[in-house]
Amino acid sequence: MKLRLSRYTIQVILGAWIIILNVYIFLYHADTISESLKNITNTKGTSDNEDYDDTNGWSFEFEDSDEYNNMRIYQGLNTSILDSTTITLYQRFAELKDDRNIKPIFSTNYESIFKHHPEPLEIIANLDFQERCDLYFQHLFLNRHNWYVNPDEALPLEGRNEFAYRTWKHNKMNEMKDKFKQQHKLGEDDDIDNEKLEEFIKYRYTLFWNQTLKVEQKSVDMINNLKVFNKCYLTKDKQAKDQFIESQKRFSKIIGRDIPSFQFTSDEKTVKINTKNCNDLEMRIYPWLSMHYPIFEKWNGDIQLHPPKYNNYKSSTPNLDKNNNNGCFLSKFKSDLDGRGIVLTLGDTHLENTLNLIKLLRALDNTLPIQIVYYDNLGANTKKEIVKAAREPFKDLPASFENISHMFRDNYDHGLPKQEIWFVNAFNAVHEKYRDKFSSYGNKLLATVFNSFEEFILVDSDIVIFKNPNWFFDIAKYKESGAYFYKDRSTGDIRPESDTHFFKKMFPSSIDSVMFGIPMVSEKTLDLEGMNGEFHFMEAGVVALDRIRHFNSILLMPQLYFMSPFKHRIYGEKEFFWLAFAVNGDEDYEFDKYFAAAVGEIKPDRVRKNGKPYQAKQICNAHPAHLSDADDSLVWLNSGFHFCGKYHLVDYENDLKKQGNRYLKTFETVEEIRKYYYDPIDIVHAIIPPFIDAHHNDFPNSEEEPPTGWEMTHVLCHDYMWCTYSSIGAGENYHNGTIINFSKEERDYFKYLGDIWVGNE
Ligand SMILES: *[C@@H]1O[C@H](CO)[C@@H](O)[C@H](O)[C@H]1NC(C)=O
Ligand SMILES: *[C@@H]1O[C@H](CO)[C@@H](O)[C@H](O)[C@H]1NC(C)=O
Ligand SMILES: *[C@@H]1O[C@H](CO)[C@@H](O)[C@H](O)[C@H]1NC(C)=O
Ligand SMILES: *[C@@H]1O[C@H](CO)[C@@H](O)[C@H](O)[C@H]1NC(C)=O
Ligand SMILES: *[C@@H]1O[C@H](CO)[C@@H](O)[C@H](O)[C@H]1NC(C)=O
Ligand SMILES: *[C@@H]1O[C@H](CO)[C@@H](O)[C@H](O)[C@H]1NC(C)=O
Repeated sequence: MKLRLSRYTIQVILGAWIIILNVYIFLYHADTISESLKNITNTKGTSDNEDYDDTNGWSFEFEDSDEYNNMRIYQGLNTSILDSTTITLYQRFAELKDDRNIKPIFSTNYESIFKHHPEPLEIIANLDFQERCDLYFQHLFLNRHNWYVNPDEALPLEGRNEFAYRTWKHNKMNEMKDKFKQQHKLGEDDDIDNEKLEEFIKYRYTLFWNQTLKVEQKSVDMINNLKVFNKCYLTKDKQAKDQFIESQKRFSKIIGRDIPSFQFTSDEKTVKINTKNCNDLEMRIYPWLSMHYPIFEKWNGDIQLHPPKYNNYKSSTPNLDKNNNNGCFLSKFKSDLDGRGIVLTLGDTHLENTLNLIKLLRALDNTLPIQIVYYDNLGANTKKEIVKAAREPFKDLPASFENISHMFRDNYDHGLPKQEIWFVNAFNAVHEKYRDKFSSYGNKLLATVFNSFEEFILVDSDIVIFKNPNWFFDIAKYKESGAYFYKDRSTGDIRPESDTHFFKKMFPSSIDSVMFGIPMVSEKTLDLEGMNGEFHFMEAGVVALDRIRHFNSILLMPQLYFMSPFKHRIYGEKEFFWLAFAVNGDEDYEFDKYFAAAVGEIKPDRVRKNGKPYQAKQICNAHPAHLSDADDSLVWLNSGFHFCGKYHLVDYENDLKKQGNRYLKTFETVEEIRKYYYDPIDIVHAIIPPFIDAHHNDFPNSEEEPPTGWEMTHVLCHDYMWCTYSSIGAGENYHNGTIINFSKEERDYFKYLGDIWVGNE
């Protein structure tokens, strides 16, 4: 006892001594610390990859070139504030870590603020949260009276694949030679002075680079305005904001020998705006919103201009931000969100899949309300058919029910539950001027923004789910984070490094953290496969979201979608989910750890030319499927339940000839293959191919083993058929994936749901 006590005492003394030492160092050796911190920030600030050194645009010597000397080059941001003693000390105090390894970039509006207040302590020590918001928007007005975030802002993306000078020169050589000849009026066969040509190429590259940096800075500025507005006016977490301000006051006391008081500059004093009512700011930040609700139409035809109340389907999370009426449309919308539900998007063209999905939801005993969000493009007949599928008596179950009836409640077969369908027309909610900004993929973003649930699963109309929808809200990782995502097929399509570099630049900066407590992203985001080359990373066919927790991140999605440097780097809308979160500094999201699987039946007895069986097992079909990383169960799949979703487009004679024995089984007649394509997939096994990383996915070998996990065959099923392999490569380069064999009960269950979806008796 005595010994323990004294050890404890020693610890206390030691601890106290360390604290005293730290305070001493802070108070009297701040300069040394800041000196060594400077060294750290300097190394952090320089990219370790010379290809992406953001300064190389004008690091060339152009001594002889008049053209170059007369060029006005974009001067870039003045980032000297990052080297100030206060900021470097604060970064250490708040343990801010910037792991992005890029040249620092932040909003020019912060640059403007610090130009007026070169000692950041003036702000850190004195301003409360709202005062910082006021200061921020004051500066926007100061620099441009008519500022607004323009959804049509021209942000051209040039040379996405050729950021580095070397690549640019290599890829553009022929084009440059032509331009050079034109400019110097040279003929086809005239000799080119290579030195002059090199100079010319550098000049053109500099123009390109100047433009790129400008566009990136503009992008940061636009995003920042949304991020700050949302945090200032749509997040009412007073406690967190108070804590942030308190900690900055504490910091100021530790380092401040004499804390400067905050003084508005005379320029700042000229801007007299009322930021209490955020209506006016909101219209400048979200000009594409009409500030009207969508039109909500219940299945029975009742319409209302206000989000419905779903008292029976309460969400489990208390809504901290309710009753937040500060005059903004969006904060009102947020407080009107209600309940849990399913959100579905479609146009008239996906009707058959939608009807089948609704029948499937009934078979899954779904009781959650369903909102079908559309864009003024659903006809009355379509709605009628949907309501019929959702509400007509449904008692005649397929024969396959017999084997799994014990899995359902008593009375289940007395009639499947009627669905609470609502049609949500989002057209009215988008400002007339910007209505064309949401093309087919934009629909899903609209649905995410304009449905009225607190928590929802967003599903594509052509997906098949195998769980009662409430299951998603019970996923442990969903409950922790309020956002659950699935990964796509790991097909080996890669994105250029410049994409990742751009994304990183759009993530929050340390100045965001200093000014507004917006966190920077950590390894969690930076280590995602989608940040390390994987082009098709997320599959957004099913997404589970807690809207209240992630309201601000979700609002960034449409804005990023409007911006060509994002839009042209992303296929469809898939990656906008996690990217918008990261751009908002919101890392409360989780991915199911499995990449997509193939489900079906492993092709038996595949043998190589030498008669030995392949090591790799094979499943061929056209549907990516998703397994739960918690228990390997099948959760959902894409492209409907027919073995071949494009069965109505298939040239069957051709497929009968072509299929050989390599991909599927042997068919004798057209009728046989037709039936096989139409029937629900017979789900016996699942294969998740091995994944090493985006840049290592091809392992050619002399053993005839597949080199890649996914092979696009371009034959069969209207030329859209993937084959999937359980292992790739051979010998030293053998990599093994995952095979799952489903139990008899699971297979009977899939069979039942397949029959429901397809409409078999
Ligand atoms: C910072 O770096 C400079 C030059 O690289 C060096 O001379 C100086 O000692 C370093 N300062 C500290 C505190 O490490
Ligand atoms: C570079 O960008 C700046 C800033 O927008 C612009 O004013 C300038 O004209 C550009 N210079 C060239 C040579 O394109
Ligand atoms: C950058 O800002 C600092 C501090 O506000 C100032 O001293 C410096 O002159 C500026 N540099 C340039 C190149 O404008
Ligand atoms: C039920 O399971 C048995 C045993 O596997 C099978 O033979 C039978 O065809 C199944 N019944 C139906 C209706 O699918
Ligand atoms: C590959 O993985 C499977 C399980 O998924 C295992 O049964 C098999 O033995 C593994 N093969 C090799 C060669 O490691
Ligand atoms: C899974 O099924 C495959 C193909 O039928 C078979 O080769 C394998 O042995 C099965 N694995 C297990 C663990 O049952």
